[in-house]
Amino acid sequence: MSLRLATERPPETDANHRDSSPLAVRGMTVSYGQKPAIFSVDMTVEPGRMTAIIGPNGAGKSTLLKAALGILTPLAGAATVYGKPVEKQRHRIAYVPQRASVDWDFPTRVIDVVLMGLYPQLGLLGRIRPTHRARAGDCLARVGMEDFADRQIGQLSGGQQQRVFLARALAQDADLYLLDEPFAGVDAATEKAIIGVLKSLRDAGKTVVAVHHDLSTVTDYFDNVFLINTRRIAEGPVATTFVTANLQNAYGGRLAGAQMEALALS
Ligand SMILES: Nc1ncnc2c1ncn2[C@@H]1O[C@H](COP(=O)(O)OP(=O)(O)OP(=O)(O)O)[C@@H](O)[C@H]1O
Ligand SMILES: [Mg+2]
Repeated sequence: MSLRLATERPPETDANHRDSSPLAVRGMTVSYGQKPAIFSVDMTVEPGRMTAIIGPNGAGKSTLLKAALGILTPLAGAATVYGKPVEKQRHRIAYVPQRASVDWDFPTRVIDVVLMGLYPQLGLLGRIRPTHRARAGDCLARVGMEDFADRQIGQLSGGQQQRVFLARALAQDADLYLLDEPFAGVDAATEKAIIGVLKSLRDAGKTVVAVHHDLSTVTDYFDNVFLINTRRIAEGPVATTFVTANLQNAYGGRLAGAQMEALALS
C-alpha cells in the first residue's frame, strides 16, 4: 500500500502541465453561423517559448485567440491562463490584434496609445506621472519609434502603427504576449525590429504566441508551432512538428509539393 505524505508533490501529470500552462485551451468550438470556425480545439502553450500559430486564411487562427481571450463566446470549451480563468488574469496578458482591426478616426497621440498599456497598473483613479511617461517613452524606444511620440496615431504608416501597438504591449509588462500577425505588411527592417523585441521577451522568461504566415521564417523565429485548420492539426517543437505531413494536413493542396519539401525539415 502506498500512502503519500501531505507535503509530497503529486506526480507530474497532463493535468498538472495544463494547470501551469500560460494558455491552455480545451475543446474550444466557435461558430459565427452554421459551420464552426474552430472545432473542439485543444492547445497547451509551453512557458518561456515562442509559439507560432499557423494555418491557411480562414483556418480560425484569429478566432482561436479571441475565444481564448474571452473576446468571443465559444459554443463549447474553455481556456485557462496560468491555471485560472482568463477574466482573472487579464493583467498578465498583452494582446496585439490583427492589423486594420482598429480604426483610428479620433485623434490620439502615439504616446497616449502606449500609456493605455499602463492603465491597469495605474488603478481606477491613478494619475499619469512623469515616471509613467518615461516608461512609455522607453517602450517606444525599444521599437525604434521614440521620435514619433507626439504624432497622431492615424498619421502613421501601417508598419509604424504595428510598432506602436507592440510598444503598448511592452508597457503592460505582461507574462503572456499574444500577437495576431505582427509581421503582416511590415518591411524587412520593421520585421527584424519586432522579432528582436519578441525574442528578448522570450529570453526574459516571457511566453510569446504569434499568428504567423511566412512559413520560410518559422524555423528561425519560433521554438514551437501550433497548426490549425478549423481543427487542431498538431502542436509541439518546430523540429518535430513543422514537418511535411502536418503542413499537408493543414494546407492541403494549397502549397505545392516542392514548396513543402523546401520548407519542411523532414
Ligand atoms: N465576425 C465574423 N462573422 C462571420 N464569420 C467570421 C467572422 N470572423 C471570422 N469569420 C469566419 O470564420 C472563419 C475563421 O476566421 P478567422 O478570422 O479566425 O481566420 P484566420 O485563420 O485568422 O484567417 P486569416 O489568415 O485570413 O487572418 C473564416 O471562415 C471567416 O470567414
Ligand atoms: Mg486572422
